[in-house]
Amino acid sequence: MTSELATIVDFIRYGASRFGAAGLCFGHSYDNAIDEATHLVLHALHLPHDLSPAYGQARLTTDERQRVLELVERRIAEHRPVAYLTGEAWFAGLTFKSDPRALVPRSPIAELILGGFSPWLDEREVTRALDLCTGSGCIGIAMAVHNPDWQVDLADISDDALSLARVNIAYQDVGERVQAIHSDLFSALEGEVYDLIVSNPPYVTEQEFADLPPEYGHEPALGLTAGHDGLDFALRILRDAAAHLSADGVLIVEVGESERALVRMLPDVPFNWIEFDVGQMGVFLLDRRDLLEHADAIREAVAARA
Ligand SMILES: C[S@@+](CC[C@H](N)C(=O)[O-])C[C@H]1O[C@@H](n2cnc3c(N)ncnc32)[C@H](O)[C@@H]1O
Repeated sequence: MTSELATIVDFIRYGASRFGAAGLCFGHSYDNAIDEATHLVLHALHLPHDLSPAYGQARLTTDERQRVLELVERRIAEHRPVAYLTGEAWFAGLTFKSDPRALVPRSPIAELILGGFSPWLDEREVTRALDLCTGSGCIGIAMAVHNPDWQVDLADISDDALSLARVNIAYQDVGERVQAIHSDLFSALEGEVYDLIVSNPPYVTEQEFADLPPEYGHEPALGLTAGHDGLDFALRILRDAAAHLSADGVLIVEVGESERALVRMLPDVPFNWIEFDVGQMGVFLLDRRDLLEHADAIREAVAARA
């Protein structure tokens, strides 16, 4: 009986228990039921995410109980990611508006941004950066917020995603240094050169896509699917990035589980697989020299798929 629940902690515990019992998938923003329930309850109560635990014993009013329970029931019935229920997600220490126009921000690249890309950028000076396949704009906007002297371009092929990215540019107040560009990968970026290109492109294989939990069905398929081996976009980025990198420029791309297929296809390319706090996450780094040195092999791999 939910009438037995009274405090903030009670409702967080109740939501988490229901989510666990319903077998929900927690791959979006949070990896566990307690964090999801905490986000939902605090959102419904208009309280900050870093609320002092001292308020955990505060009791909810009847209206508040109703709001929390409605969100808990929707999360279970619709399998909708929490970020789409609340309209916001956390990424690299910042709040982003989030809705089905773009994927829920969750890339491990947030950790690189927060760590100043150390030690990966060495002494390289960055003045211009590109977030290719930007979605909600989270990666590029977070790079701009954490590096106040960088100019950052955000590119995506989806008008929906770009409209959300523009909302986030305004929300984070970086409009003077960040612009959102409609582009099929590099096609609208002719002549543009960057010191750092970061990309989290679609990389889910057709088989993986068919097996994804229902939560992913709320996200745009355009942001997920990438051919039979998940490499449709990563290979084109590898082929074309060098032309858009400055002499010392660096490319960082997330390919997730498609890492193995990529290494099999291009065994001689010296991918630097970045180590995160939780281990490797399928994110590689290459500099312009590596890309030029292996340009023939990369072109052949792309041509062989055409
Ligand atoms: C995996 S999502 C990543 C979104 C965002 N970077 C993030 O980390 O949350 C991939 C994005 O690539 C975009 N995309 C798909 N095909 C593209 C293309 N040919 N050119 C540019 N962007 C593309 C999708 O619209 C989607 O927003």
